[in-house]
Amino acid sequence: MNEKTEVNMTIGIDKIGFATSQYVLKLQDLAEARGVDPDKYSKGLLLNEISIAPLTEDVVTLAASASNSILTDKEKEEIDMVIVATESGIDQSKAAAVFVHGLLGIQPFARSFEIKEACYGATAALHYAKLHVENSPKSKVLVIASDIAKYGVTAPGEPTQGAGSVAMLITQNPRTMAFNNDNVAQTRDIMDFWRPNYSTTPYVNGLYSTQQYLDSLTTTWDEYKKRFDWTMNDFAAICFHLPYPKLALKGLRKMMDKTLSQEKKDSLQENFDKSILYSQMIGNIYTGSLFLGLLSLLENAENLKAGDKIVLYSYGSGAVSEFFSGELVEGYETYLDKDRLSKLKQRTALSVEDYEKVFFEEVELDESGSAQFAGFENQDYALVEILDHQRRYSKVEK
Ligand code: HMG
Repeated sequence: MNEKTEVNMTIGIDKIGFATSQYVLKLQDLAEARGVDPDKYSKGLLLNEISIAPLTEDVVTLAASASNSILTDKEKEEIDMVIVATESGIDQSKAAAVFVHGLLGIQPFARSFEIKEACYGATAALHYAKLHVENSPKSKVLVIASDIAKYGVTAPGEPTQGAGSVAMLITQNPRTMAFNNDNVAQTRDIMDFWRPNYSTTPYVNGLYSTQQYLDSLTTTWDEYKKRFDWTMNDFAAICFHLPYPKLALKGLRKMMDKTLSQEKKDSLQENFDKSILYSQMIGNIYTGSLFLGLLSLLENAENLKAGDKIVLYSYGSGAVSEFFSGELVEGYETYLDKDRLSKLKQRTALSVEDYEKVFFEEVELDESGSAQFAGFENQDYALVEILDHQRRYSKVEK
């Protein structure tokens, strides 16, 4: 029996935008510095470059940049909820969403908060946003997945680090992708990747985490197929959480079952290749990785059209996974940026030495709890100072 919830309203992603940090590290350079065969990164992980963020760029500035790239002034007056999903937040109490609300100038009668479950957080935020719009159809919810992934110098996860933020406006009658109300989630209480409060980098059981990602994928997918009448033939593409694209490729192979024609398999593979393009140049952005894959697919695929269904696999260590799907709506191309690949090429490349300095630099506060920052001319938003332990952000005038 098809258990899809009947909702008399179409709700989904109205617009989707993205921002990454200003620096890039070429993995060819990292491989040379670490004495590793560059093929391990480019073929073994399917990664070529990773985005690097200086101290003045954090989850708040990236979230504000991603959001500002898609929102009109009118939408800022209409948004009544701002959710930031992150696992690299900048305060244990005050939500990044509150800073972002202020920086964007969103109307005051809005609810703003942060949500967390490793890389899964933004999927939970989307679901909450959908329920909110169901209850209050005129509402517009800004969901932002924002993270800076730091594993540490010479850690096995080092070539998979990254920085970026995906902003999604969730509304009734969306102009990009409508949700299909078919979410199936799974929770497992495991320790595959975690970051205690006293540590700036995560603890990782690398191989175990990859096994859990793939096992959660097959078991949640089986449950999803059981509860709904979907088969892989119903979908034009699948987007995966992308800790590094090679793991997702393994997931894709598991989902290509015998019922698929060779033509269908080729088309799914072609769309998969488009969905990993941005991730290959940016690295893991934790909560945003799945949606960066969706954006990469939408902006680069040549065989997608309105009415096509896309299924998404979300995975956050700890672990929570979820399958859900959406349908592209007429005119979905209108709000995309087809020039993004060339913009990504404009990031400033760092030497390995400079990357180690920039990425792992820590704030040095004076005795009053203050610090001043400089050199943020190339950012849209910046952390400009910390004054008496208060982070001060600003839009950078160009
Ligand atoms: P590792 O030990 O450095 O690498 O760690 P490896 O030895 O397993 O090699 C990786 C691949 O490169 C292998 O391919 C090698 O064969 C290949 P595979 O067997 O997997 O197909 N390889 C080569 N290929 C070509 N030429 C060569 C060569 N050498 C090797 N010369 C590991 C890899 C993923 C464990 C590490 O990067 C890591 O710890 N990463 C962080 C954890 C992670 O990303 N886990 C993924 C699942 S958990 C998740 O998705 C959640 C997460 O996003 C966090 C969150 O939820 O918040 C991480």
